[in-house]
Amino acid sequence: MCGIVGYLGNHSSKSILLDGLSELEYRGYDSAGIAVLHDGEFSYFKAVGKLENLIRKTAEFDTNGFSVGIGHTRWATHGKPTEINAHPHLGNSSYVVHNGIIENYQSLKKQLTAKGKNFLSQTDTEVIVHLFESHLEEGVAPVEAFRQTIHEIEGAYAVLLVTKSKPDTIFFAKNGSPMIVGTNESDEKFFGSSDAALIGNCSQVIYLEDSQLGYVTPTKIYIENESGESIAPTFAHLPESKLSAQKEGFRFFMEKEIYEQSTVISDTLLGRLGSDTIIFDEIEPNLLEGIREIKLCACGTSYHAALASSYLFERLGKIRTSVEIASELRYKEPLLTPDTLFIVISQSGETADTLETLKMAKRAGLRTLVICNVDNSSMVREADGAILTRAGIEKGVASTKAFATQMTVLWMFALYVAQTNKTMTPDTIREQIALLREVPSVVKVPQDLHERLRRLSKRYLHGHGFFFIGRDIFFPLALEGALKLKEISYLHAEGYPSGEMKHGPIALADPELFTIALMPSNMLYEKTKSNVEELSARDATICAISDTPFENADDLIQMVGHTHYMLDFFEIMVILQLLSMEIAIRLGNDVDMPRNLAKSVTVE
Ligand code: F6R
Repeated sequence: MCGIVGYLGNHSSKSILLDGLSELEYRGYDSAGIAVLHDGEFSYFKAVGKLENLIRKTAEFDTNGFSVGIGHTRWATHGKPTEINAHPHLGNSSYVVHNGIIENYQSLKKQLTAKGKNFLSQTDTEVIVHLFESHLEEGVAPVEAFRQTIHEIEGAYAVLLVTKSKPDTIFFAKNGSPMIVGTNESDEKFFGSSDAALIGNCSQVIYLEDSQLGYVTPTKIYIENESGESIAPTFAHLPESKLSAQKEGFRFFMEKEIYEQSTVISDTLLGRLGSDTIIFDEIEPNLLEGIREIKLCACGTSYHAALASSYLFERLGKIRTSVEIASELRYKEPLLTPDTLFIVISQSGETADTLETLKMAKRAGLRTLVICNVDNSSMVREADGAILTRAGIEKGVASTKAFATQMTVLWMFALYVAQTNKTMTPDTIREQIALLREVPSVVKVPQDLHERLRRLSKRYLHGHGFFFIGRDIFFPLALEGALKLKEISYLHAEGYPSGEMKHGPIALADPELFTIALMPSNMLYEKTKSNVEELSARDATICAISDTPFENADDLIQMVGHTHYMLDFFEIMVILQLLSMEIAIRLGNDVDMPRNLAKSVTVE
């Protein structure tokens, strides 16, 4: 996810901005840039790839005396990771950096282009600087021009803007993306999208709230709320450890990433939901023309997302769908016909087996699509179309938020197929869109639930194995739950369709066999219940995840329960992630770096 820094003061802006950006490297990025206003003139530098490239480009540059500067590391969401798309973005005499997504950027871009504004990049961010300058050109004063600009943009943002029209000032705004302002005894001002960029520079900081905007000068920090009322700054102290700042107070990156799922799913949905339509601007409108079948292919967790979505493609999109494990597809001499859309799913976009199947499908003349978290990755470059999942970098080796955003995109894409092939009416699509909008709140972690799972975890540290069982779309979720547990706890776990247990695995049933039963009342509850009863009759230990009390459960993890099974899916996903993590923590394992595993598997 992108990072922002800003500086106003008499020290070297360049050094402070670059140091700040290097503290944000852990968030992942594909390009970086800075812009510094000194003695009435801007200097700006951008570079694709690692920060060293930007450091090399700025080697000859420095400032002496007062300057203002802004910097950014970009994780591409709108537009490729190129130098042109890297921030800061320039108008005539102002620069902007932005984290988040401007939902109405297309309509704003149209209006501004009609007014003669020339857009250089493919980003949504560039509208901010042109909008600001178009207000300046109408004769509006800079503070008011910034205020109007922020009130006109919709979506999630943290914005910094510097302008020659007010050369001793940095403007800022925040809504849905973090932004912190800091100061010190020398009255320098600092900005960071995370604590880590500010530690060591500031004595006190202000954690901005949503809908706040304002500006800083050498003598002032001005903040106002949505209604334009001035807000007295509330100062706080910064944490001291940079590593714990990067983990934002969580014990592990995995835990932070589980808690981040609500935000990243919101980002994934942004701009893609109309009132009764799904909007994927990034794919060609004729992608589905002549397509009669979908083949999904992936590895590991991404394979589980593929398998789960196959239920949605057939149920909602009424399109024949098959799912393949990439390492298997490569050598099975598959029948690939050009009426098939070949979809690969990959967090990294680099997994060797998945990439090879993509190339294979292209050679066979199939149309291809990748659902991926990393722009400019090998798969994104190779496929005919790409939909980015916008999860930001995932540091925990065991995938959590990447899976959550894959599922969100796949659900939307199944609806996109339904709307294109008219297998659902606008009314039924509208109902599904309303459900999608609920997902960010469904995946928010309630403290009492987390505490309950932490306490429960102590009962599940031994035994001779775990069976995660579920039916329908809860079967792939059971597979994913089992994978999470084995990856980080090193306990043996398997995922099974509930109805399959009696065809062999039930032979293992005894009190030391732990069954994690996924039992939402919205999906084949009675059927699953009889399967679980068969296990409990053979004395297996049952941990039921359900919104309905179940007398045969040894432990019940009580769900909130929802009106639709897809919302149950996301709720159970979070429960399984937290349960695995708490078991692994009790066993003393390094949850973020499990043994024998790598984040990106680029060998066969
Ligand atoms: C499990 C996990 C792996 C990956 C798999 C594919 O937590 O992360 O199973 O899902 O290695 O990786 P990507 O999605 O990068 O292709």
